Amino acid sequence: MGYENLENVRTETRDQILIVTIDRPKVLNALNAQTVEEIGRVFAEARGDEAVRAVIVTGGGEKAFVAGADINELARQSPISGKETSERGQFIFSQIERFPKPVIAAINGFALGGGCELALACHIRIASEKAQIGLPEVSLGIIPGYGGTQRMARLLGKGKALELICTGDRIGALEAEKIGLVNKVVAPEALLATAEEMAKKIASRSPVAVRAAIEAVNVGSEMGFEEGQFLEATLFGLLCASEDMKEGMAAFLEKRPAKFPGK
Ligand code: COA
Repeated sequence: MGYENLENVRTETRDQILIVTIDRPKVLNALNAQTVEEIGRVFAEARGDEAVRAVIVTGGGEKAFVAGADINELARQSPISGKETSERGQFIFSQIERFPKPVIAAINGFALGGGCELALACHIRIASEKAQIGLPEVSLGIIPGYGGTQRMARLLGKGKALELICTGDRIGALEAEKIGLVNKVVAPEALLATAEEMAKKIASRSPVAVRAAIEAVNVGSEMGFEEGQFLEATLFGLLCASEDMKEGMAAFLEKRPAKFPGK
């Protein structure tokens, strides 16, 4: 089972929401190779787990979401192993981005380097007022290697992404919200509850429609506008054959809440 025998990642399911906590307190939840693999295993398991309708990713302890890739491991990389490490992280974070159910990052503290990249791979980011976010890799003589250069530029535009990546500056939660790096900022004690509330709301919608929406936005944003619209129309047409659509429309007309079968 993907949720068992994990050393650095804790999982808990509450109301069909899987809460994934990165938990290496001694190094502020830094991502060594094992932790990245454990995250990959959890998402692979959760993909087909019908008891999971949404995922929240957060960091253990008060101080950090994830303070980056593990610098002890990074310091020992050769050109070949460095490339492989980067590719493996990119692959696993892409599984998160393409996950067919909503993934929300609950950023409780430092989200630096690989931690910022992990949050960027999630679909939605909610930050605590205490969060500090940045890509400090250039101050270590490297660049972000888990998709950060690509996702940051797509999310914020090239200018802001290059400013953050080339200065290596950390920004606070409010600044991150202002530039669109996080969706929402809340008090630290409200972080998990806010993320759970949003996850539950999305989980109450049609799972097949939410999945199609994630695909349309993810895949469509890598296409030209017309191809993206073609994809949108095709997914729209596909959903017209779903049981969820029949239920959603019937529930509206009968003035009752929908009970989506997810088919
Ligand atoms: N990799 C490995 N160890 C890390 C780490 C990382 N990315 N981030 C923090 N740690 C370790 C520290 O070495 C320290 O270990 P120690 O107690 O054995 O000395 C412990 O976590 C606590 O961190 P510390 O630096 O003492 O906390 P702080 O509150 O003074 O500073 C940070 C917090 C996040 C600002 C600081 O730890 C930091 O800059 N970390 C590196 C961030 C980074 O560059 N990430 C990108 C990597 S590509």
